Amino acid sequence: MRFAPAPSPQATGELALLEARDVSRVFRIGLGLLRGKRALRAVDGVSLAVRSGEVLALVGESGCGKTTLARMLLGLLPPSTGEVRIDGRPVGVLPRREIAALIQPVFQDPYASLNPRKSIGSIIALPLRVQGMSRSDTWRRKVEEMMERVGLARDLYDNYPSQLSGGQRQRVAIARALINHPRMVICDEPTSALDVSVQSQILNLLQDLRRDLGLTYLLISHNLAVVEHMATRVAVMYLGRIVEEAETESFFRAPLHPYSAALLGSVLTPEPGLGVPAAELGAAFPDPLNPPAGCRFHPRCGRALVRCTTVVPPSVATADGFVACHLHDGQEHPAQQG
Ligand SMILES: Nc1ncnc2c1ncn2[C@@H]1O[C@H](COP(=O)(O)OP(=O)(O)OP(=O)(O)O)[C@@H](O)[C@H]1O
Ligand code: SF4
Ligand SMILES: [Mg+2]
Repeated sequence: MRFAPAPSPQATGELALLEARDVSRVFRIGLGLLRGKRALRAVDGVSLAVRSGEVLALVGESGCGKTTLARMLLGLLPPSTGEVRIDGRPVGVLPRREIAALIQPVFQDPYASLNPRKSIGSIIALPLRVQGMSRSDTWRRKVEEMMERVGLARDLYDNYPSQLSGGQRQRVAIARALINHPRMVICDEPTSALDVSVQSQILNLLQDLRRDLGLTYLLISHNLAVVEHMATRVAVMYLGRIVEEAETESFFRAPLHPYSAALLGSVLTPEPGLGVPAAELGAAFPDPLNPPAGCRFHPRCGRALVRCTTVVPPSVATADGFVACHLHDGQEHPAQQG
């Protein structure tokens, strides 16, 4: 697979475009008629900031909470606790229309995310209607320009999603996301449902659009080769928490968290929905209804210390991010766990 290397704009130091402050999300899970309900903490105390011009990649195994976090950042799901801010303003008080004007999603499955009964033109134009733009002749011109920009022939305007290939459908989803010139796009596994042969075309398109339109991305991807080429920064999520954040170059050169190191040592899979495999980790991904005490990674960690089983590791600042691991907490490391 070939990718155009991403230019790496530095964080500007200005106000974060998108920010999560100690955000958690609990789902109540029914366990059956007589067993009642349990709380599943899908996202647990996540703080994250995306600055203008960045491509922040969010990586972690299937079920660790990436999509739940993305839905909260998009204002589609209210956090149980904590706050999301877009452009400095709390998402909870922003009208849906204002959020949509600033930040747009591109989801994994272009088959599920496009209304099969609407024509391509009206699907792409939907955000214009939502923003109250009423003249359909203006829509048509704008939509056709955007179709051309994302590599779709204008004469597909009156076609329906079922008449398009997977790659073309994802181009429609991207055109719809960009038609109102948002500042940021959250791409949740944007290519993992596509044939391998078209994945790099879509990734190169996302790269070009970012450069030409000055976009900021949050990129969720299980493919670390994609992350290395596209991201300027990487955040690693494990069982609802961010365990390491670093600039892309230093992350791939010298990951600090044992889980990050395990991810980089894994064999990549192209299969959608499976997240990042970590085949060499002894124990399986833990039950999110019963997360391990202390460091949640400790049952699978080959470097676990005695305190890892009981004490939650603090987030320690590093040169270009942070790491939440007792190996880096500045204390002595007496005996390894048995
Ligand atoms: N609406 C929901 N109701 C109950 N549980 C949910 C809901 N959405 C997600 N979960 C649970 O929350 C956890 C996190 O799910 P999420 O979809 O955010 O993970 P993910 O990292 O996006 O996984 P994948 O890589 O497979 O897309 C999982 O245990 C999942 O089963
Ligand atoms: S805190 Fe302990 S168990 Fe967790 S990753 Fe670090 S060394 Fe491993
Ligand atoms: Mg997901």
